[in-house]
Amino acid sequence: MKIAIMGAMREEIDPILEKFESYKTFEYAGNVFYTCTYGVHELVIAYSKIGKVFSAITASVMIERFGAQVLLFSGVAGGISKELKIGDLIMASALCQHDVDITAFGHPYGFIPEGSVMIETDSDLRSLAAEIAVDMSIDLYEGIIATGDQFVASAERKAWIEKTFNADALEMEGASVACVCHNFGIPFFVLRAISDSADGEAGVDFDTFLQSSAQVSAKFILEMVKRIGD
Ligand code: ADE
Repeated sequence: MKIAIMGAMREEIDPILEKFESYKTFEYAGNVFYTCTYGVHELVIAYSKIGKVFSAITASVMIERFGAQVLLFSGVAGGISKELKIGDLIMASALCQHDVDITAFGHPYGFIPEGSVMIETDSDLRSLAAEIAVDMSIDLYEGIIATGDQFVASAERKAWIEKTFNADALEMEGASVACVCHNFGIPFFVLRAISDSADGEAGVDFDTFLQSSAQVSAKFILEMVKRIGD
């Protein structure tokens, strides 16, 4: 199977690339794509750059140009739920865009006509992740992830996102990748390790914990790749 693994930042895919002795490199549409084989699977790996637009480009290219049949996103997020501490893992049950606002026309926040506020991730991939978490004795949280083109570092904004979308974590790429995969009919999975709590300390915490949390997520994603198709 051709599996896409993507992150938003170099730090999110470096721990994955480090696992491979050799890979091919392709430059296309403003990104670098790395391809290699892993067991029975072919992988295409890339980081998109931050935000919904760049991540949508990268996901589209992975599917259309590289023929990805499944997409796994690995990275970090700001925690909303009080249960989530720095370094904890959350897999998205569904994702939404917290910065979409056409409420002036009577629509709910996050809604775009002919779309939906929430896009669900693939349930088979979530079940596989839950099994792996049990096998590895890891606490894997499942919940709603809200995406927007904002680094959230404010208790007020975080509280609004929690109240409006019932979200457990937030980041800047998941929902756009979800939108691409949903529209192309590609099963997808979004995993994030918490790097900060999206409050006044978020900037400092993000810088401190980006690498360590990105590694936690990447390690789990590699385990998933090993077991996809078992
Ligand atoms: N990714 C990790 N932390 C984040 C935050 N506080 N806001 C947006 N994206 C994030």
